[in-house]
Amino acid sequence: MCGIAGYIGYREAYPIVVNGLKRLEYRGYDSAGIMMYDGKKMHLSKTKGKVSDLELITEKETERKHGTIGIGHTRWATHGVPNDTNSHPHFSQSGDLVLVHNGIIENYDTIKKELISRGYTFKSDTDTEVLINLIEEVKKKENCKLGKAVQLALTQVVGAYAIAVFDITKPNEIVVARLGSPIAIGVGKDNKEFFIASDTSPFIEFTKKAIYLEDGELAIIKKDKEIKVRQIKDDKLINADIQKLQLSLEQIEKGGYEHFMLKEIHEQPRAIVDTYRGRMLPDEGVIKMAGIDDNMSKFLNADRIIIVACGTSWHAGLVGEYLFEDMARIPVEVEYASEFRYRNPIITSKDVVIAISQSGETADTLAAIKLAKSKGAFVFGVCNVVGSSIARETHAGAYTHAGPEIGVASTKAFTTQITVLSLIALKLAKEKGSLSTSAFQAYLQTMQLIPGQIEKLLEIDEHVKSIAAVYKNAKNCLYLGRGYNFPVALEGALKLKEISYIHAEGYPAAEMKHGPIALIDENMPIFVIATNKGHYEKVVSNIQEIKSRSGKIIAVVTEGDTTVKEIADHVIEIPETEEAFTPLLTTIPFQLLSYHIAVMLDKNVDQPRNLAKSVTVE
Ligand code: G6P
Repeated sequence: MCGIAGYIGYREAYPIVVNGLKRLEYRGYDSAGIMMYDGKKMHLSKTKGKVSDLELITEKETERKHGTIGIGHTRWATHGVPNDTNSHPHFSQSGDLVLVHNGIIENYDTIKKELISRGYTFKSDTDTEVLINLIEEVKKKENCKLGKAVQLALTQVVGAYAIAVFDITKPNEIVVARLGSPIAIGVGKDNKEFFIASDTSPFIEFTKKAIYLEDGELAIIKKDKEIKVRQIKDDKLINADIQKLQLSLEQIEKGGYEHFMLKEIHEQPRAIVDTYRGRMLPDEGVIKMAGIDDNMSKFLNADRIIIVACGTSWHAGLVGEYLFEDMARIPVEVEYASEFRYRNPIITSKDVVIAISQSGETADTLAAIKLAKSKGAFVFGVCNVVGSSIARETHAGAYTHAGPEIGVASTKAFTTQITVLSLIALKLAKEKGSLSTSAFQAYLQTMQLIPGQIEKLLEIDEHVKSIAAVYKNAKNCLYLGRGYNFPVALEGALKLKEISYIHAEGYPAAEMKHGPIALIDENMPIFVIATNKGHYEKVVSNIQEIKSRSGKIIAVVTEGDTTVKEIADHVIEIPETEEAFTPLLTTIPFQLLSYHIAVMLDKNVDQPRNLAKSVTVE
């Protein structure tokens, strides 16, 4: 994880780097640091805590903030606890070289021992300090320039990295490189300035032109010069592709909301429309998706679909399983990417693997894709971040058009992933003939209603807030759902855990009898999804079982429900829709509930402790 931001050009670098780091805090926020070069000296400021803490220590010391070259870092600790010393940037032993790093150097211990035997000493516990000293050692030994030294050092390294390195003896350049962790370079007008960042958000107001470094590439960035990109292993020069960015500043600001999470919850109607716009054409009775159309035979001839993902994206994948099996009658397996990749799974060229990832950078998902490709499977990506590693690593894909998701707790990414999966399932069902034309058409009409229904559903905010006030001090909560809404129960519990730190479990409602029922007493809030489709009567029976044990029932029901209303302590109504689309609605009250509980408990909603939005370490 971790975020990297840097600048080399003619402007004061400090505000650019620091504001950039703030935008990258979703990647980690244990500690922050910056190195500023003022034309003569390097000034290092770093601290445990957030970027705002870094600003406090630099506040009164203008000299620390002056200069047109700077590199900064926001950390999610892997090696070494979050403290001032372990914070980045890290200097080499001579003090000439300085490095920021996102990733893990797996063989750092061996390299460190070797360097110690050559007289190096280390201040921190990080793998990063080992890497900068390795670069220094190579530079001395080979008597070469910084770019070459970085390149040679990286050939000795096992692991993942995105790095930016500066050398005071050659203070007109920054060297960056990547393997497994993302890095983008913003290209200013006439090459007069360059921006370096883990994603393009830090420099969006300065330039719309960017180069995304590919795995195994290194770039030498010099002011007023063309960027030189080369492959680390074979030294081959690459013609770097400069891409035009679509991102706007407005998209990454809070827009009047108190938190990004609340903004993103409210953006869902728009995000879902953006995700199906131009793809779902109800009047023509078709769904157009180039990535599917171009590879239709792969999907139609597939023995099975394997969905790989992590976290919330895995929950969306579970909804996908119901959608694909129900509509398109294709067998589906849903796998945690981290388990799949290490399990020696049986994968053949007749399998289609769908990788789901908001960030497109999750290390385990990326590794699962590589494994599936190596076994001959066709791999399709469902990503939100355009140009991300997963989007580029997959054979084909479909973007969710959620827009940047900044709150660490995923909301609009989840519903837009389900939207994409619904479109794919419907499209395959039509092609296979497993859904009649009229049923297909009816689904399309119903899907069109979803954004408006969410809009209306968001009006229940005050009601959900009043429920949040009742249960905010609960120690444990249970979330139950069946069928399409079992994954929503998992996701509801995850949201609560992530941002309020209340222990919560999601369970298939019927499984409650096989364990969780033992936990139920009058202090236990149980959130049950009991919409009128699917297994309504069965869920009602489960609710009765809870009631008999004095559990507190908060039920999500379909408008007009009377049965559950009589039994439950609280009900939240959702509009009527097809069963397959209910997750898009039932998940909304749980997002709001978690949000309000976290706010009431005074937790950091957008940056919950220990979590990061983009998990680029295994
Ligand atoms: C992290 C985030 C989650 C996310 C998961 C998978 O844990 O905090 O919100 O669901 O990673 O991320 P991805 O970007 O692959 O969807």
